[in-house]
Formats: sequence, C-alpha cells, structure tokens
Amino acid sequence: MEPLLLRALKNEPLPRPPVWLMRQAGRYMPEYRLLREKHSFLELCKSVALAKEVSLLPLKFLDVDAVILFSDILIPVEAMGIEISFNPAPKITNPIKTTSDIAKLKSASTNQDLNFVFHILEELRTELEQTKNSTEKKALIGFAGAPWTLACYILDQGPFKHFQGTQVFAYQHRSAIHDLLAKLELVVTSYLLKQIESGAQAVQLFDTWAGNLTAEDYQEFALPYTQRILSAIKGAGCPSILYVGTSAHLLPSLKTAGATCQSIDSRVPLRHAAQIFGEDVVLQGNFDPTHLFGSTNQVRTRTSQMISQLGRTTGYIANLGHGILPTTPPENALCFVNTVKAGWTTLE
Ligand code: CP3
Repeated sequence: MEPLLLRALKNEPLPRPPVWLMRQAGRYMPEYRLLREKHSFLELCKSVALAKEVSLLPLKFLDVDAVILFSDILIPVEAMGIEISFNPAPKITNPIKTTSDIAKLKSASTNQDLNFVFHILEELRTELEQTKNSTEKKALIGFAGAPWTLACYILDQGPFKHFQGTQVFAYQHRSAIHDLLAKLELVVTSYLLKQIESGAQAVQLFDTWAGNLTAEDYQEFALPYTQRILSAIKGAGCPSILYVGTSAHLLPSLKTAGATCQSIDSRVPLRHAAQIFGEDVVLQGNFDPTHLFGSTNQVRTRTSQMISQLGRTTGYIANLGHGILPTTPPENALCFVNTVKAGWTTLE
C-alpha cells in the first residue's frame, strides 16, 4: 500500500489523516541534543550517515507518517558561493551588498556540490522501502527554501528586523533583486528535481518570510518564482507542499501558486483556508507550536478539534503551523501524533 501521506496528496478518502511535524528532527529530542554535543549542525547536515540517522530519529520516537530530509534551506546557498554558519541561527559571513555581488553568485551546476544531499535521500528511500509491514510505509519528503526567503538571508539586512532590509533593497534595486531571485529560482528548481530523482516522493517549498510582503509585493517578488518552481515539480510528476509564514493576507495569491498542498500557518482557521482553496488543494497544518506547551489533556483536545474542523476525510495532512520549538515537551509531541492517529472522530 502507498504511504498514507502520498494518498492524502492524491485526495483519497482515508481512515485518518497522515501526520508529521515541521522541524521534527531537532533540539526538543534528547537523542538529537546528544548528537549535537559531538557534532556541529553543519557536520550533521553534511555527513550522509549522520544526516540519515537524524532524519530517522522522529520515526523511531514519534512513528510519524513521513521522514523529511535532515538539512537546512541554506545548504544550496553555500553552493552558490555564500559562506554560512549556524549558532544556532544562521549567519552569512559574506552577505550580498552590491548589485555586482549578485553577478558573481554561481547558479549553474550547483548540484555538483550538493551530492551529499542526494546520497542522503537515496539511502533514506532505500531504508524506507525495506519497511516490512507494507501498510506502514512512510513517505520521504525533500525540501528547499523559496527564492524570496533565501534572498532574505543572503542580502545585507542592515539594522532592521524581520528582513525589512531585503524589502528596502527590493524597492531600491528592482532589477537587481529580480536578477537574484531568478538565480535562486534556477538553483532551487534543479536542486528539487534532483531530490526527486534521488528518491523524494513529495517536496516542500518553505517561504517562511514571504508573509512580510504586502499582497501586491508578494505578487511581484515571490509568486511568479514559486509558480515556476512548482510547475517544474508538477512536470516531474511529484506532489508539492507550499509553506508561507504569516500568510492570511496572501491566501488568494497562494491559491494560484500551483502547489498540490498548501501548508497553513497557525493564525488562519483551517475552515477559512478550506473556503478559499476549495477541495482540489490539499491542506496541511496548522497546530500552533506554542500549544504543545499545554497539559497533555489540552494537547489532546486541541488536536482533536483541529482534525475534525474541516469535516472531510480527504485532502488533509495534520502538522504544526510552523516548526516545533526547541523546548517543546517531547511527550506532548507524541500526544499530538497519537491523537491524530486515533482518527477523524475522536471529538466527543
Ligand atoms: O523538518 C526537519 O526536521 C528538517 C530539518 C530542517 C531544518 N531547517 C533543521 C534545522 C528544515 C526543514 C529547516 C528549514 C528552515 N531553516 C527554514 C524554513 C522552515 C521554518 O522553520 O520556517 C528556515 C527559515 C531555516 C533557517 C534556519 N535554520 C533558522 C532560522 C535556524 C535557527 C532557528 C532555530 O531553530 O534555532 C536554523 C538552524 C536549524 N535548522 C536547526 C535545525 C535542527 C537548529 C540547529 C542546531 O541544532 O543548533
């Protein structure tokens, strides 16, 4: 039997929603923290054996329905010639300051320097295919950052918060920002296509910071790039998931992005999203990560409320509305997953 997550992406009616957690392999897990005592974050990302082990940790602990590649959205940016470090937040040592810096960035053949990522996916897929009980098959998810969000990290951010520096740059250097976004689009497209060839069965595009844009600016600086990337993924026969942070004002645009599945942030009621996206677009989300800090009973109640909200047994993947927070009580993450697994009708 095909993995539950892939069946949800095909809009098949299911006995329960598939479930996984954004940032499911991370610091809330004691096993991950132990590994981090011995290795830097980039070491974990770049060693095929370690990245494979970390990717599989949430499967062992939570028995989620999907494994996501352990990596970071900034890994392909390094292959473009940008120096990155993590502490734990990402830092760019040579941010783009001028329009001529953009011209120097590599965009062709960056995949050559990312072979370790493709090997991790190949090994994970082989391992997941060997799962003995065929009804329990897990899906393998690949991912990349969307051009706007990657641009936010690599442009000099100046003294602003929330990447306003990138918005100012875009406003002052319209043609340069489009040059940069176009380069990022090329890199992200070939990177995701190669992830699919290497075994990813679905890919998620993270546009975490695009929610800072006005609806009009989103249509200029993010949507066309996202549409072309998602259309290439569709051309490869692979389902796609689009996540945009703080996106309530962007939902009508997102409906035209071309994703198989829209990942909804916690602030938007799922039912409201369903009214906008209709039944053709699969929805994912959108448990507030801070609600995992309640009592186990509260987590159970709120999770049940979330999954029964749509009132349908098709086209839904249970997940958080953003990445799991590093101090989350692990038992509550487990309670979230187990409540979803109890099915659609757990609410009394
Ligand atoms: O979902 C998974 O388990 C796969 C792994 C994954 C990581 N980053 C590992 C990580 C994924 C899918 C990402 C995506 C990512 N990275 C995004 C988009 C998703 C989102 O959360 O909005 C963004 C914006 C980044 C950039 C990034 N990387 C930030 C802002 C940080 C630091 C913030 C934090 O969590 O402390 C990172 C570092 C990072 N990426 C860590 C992990 C496990 C922590 C590194 C450590 O162990 O010290």
